Amino acid sequence: MCNLVSPHVQGPGTPHPYDSGHVAMTYTGLACLIILGDDLSRVNKEACLAGLKALQLEDGSFYAVPEGSENDMRFVYCAACICYMLDDWSGMDCTKAIDYIRRSMSYDNGIGQGAGLESHGGSTFCAIATLCLMGKLEEMFSERELNRIRRWCILRQQNGFHGRPNKPVDTCYSFWVGATLELLDVFQYTDFEKNRNYIMSTQDSLVGGFAKWPDSHPDPLHTYFGICGLSLIGEPSLLKVHPALNVSYRAFECMQQLHRTWRESCT
Ligand code: FPP
Ligand code: ZN
Repeated sequence: MCNLVSPHVQGPGTPHPYDSGHVAMTYTGLACLIILGDDLSRVNKEACLAGLKALQLEDGSFYAVPEGSENDMRFVYCAACICYMLDDWSGMDCTKAIDYIRRSMSYDNGIGQGAGLESHGGSTFCAIATLCLMGKLEEMFSERELNRIRRWCILRQQNGFHGRPNKPVDTCYSFWVGATLELLDVFQYTDFEKNRNYIMSTQDSLVGGFAKWPDSHPDPLHTYFGICGLSLIGEPSLLKVHPALNVSYRAFECMQQLHRTWRESCT
């Protein structure tokens, strides 16, 4: 009997023996395991951390894969999340990563993907969240610098948030910029009602989910970040999202409990 199912829809395809790990997939894979209540006992932590260490460049940034790729703030953030979730910072040279973050602060006081690059809400989130996960935010930026970054982020609110000046608002920035403002302790000075109305206006009333703009097709990424944006403003019936790690506080607390058991078993 002929197979009517296209091979492309049967599964993820044939794995190649030399396929390598990707820093974003490692971050999201670990986050999914924690969300699902796994104890990470089957994760080869040493291999994860050694592989991560091999991805860091001399300038402090990270490649996504060992054979080389783009290197920027996104992968610095993924690396920080991996170290944080595995409770082990041996996977990165924090001093170099911090220097990379500092050099990425732009003339307008936002943070770009790297030195000399345009400030963007996404890269500003990655940079500030990384420093928070390291517990180094206040040490690495002076109060004057933090206030300048706060101002750059606050100015991203239109009704919802955009990612950079003169660009349209987009649902996902309600998380990227909202979470950054929360980490910088000034999210409470934003207009929650306008933010909420914008996010809600991008919801698809027929099939559900959120899009980046009103009357646009919803997608899983904007649905996830729309919900995270609503969670940040305390929408009832949603779990609170951890602004640096980008998982619920419920999952975050499970992870902390796991770390306590690891530390106890070491003593
Ligand atoms: C669009 O750029 C890019 C985004 C909406 C993503 C921004 C988020 C990040 C860079 C953080 C990513 C984090 C990880 C961990 C991968 P654009 O130029 O199309 O949109 P714009 O016009 O809104 O700037
Ligand atoms: Zn978006």
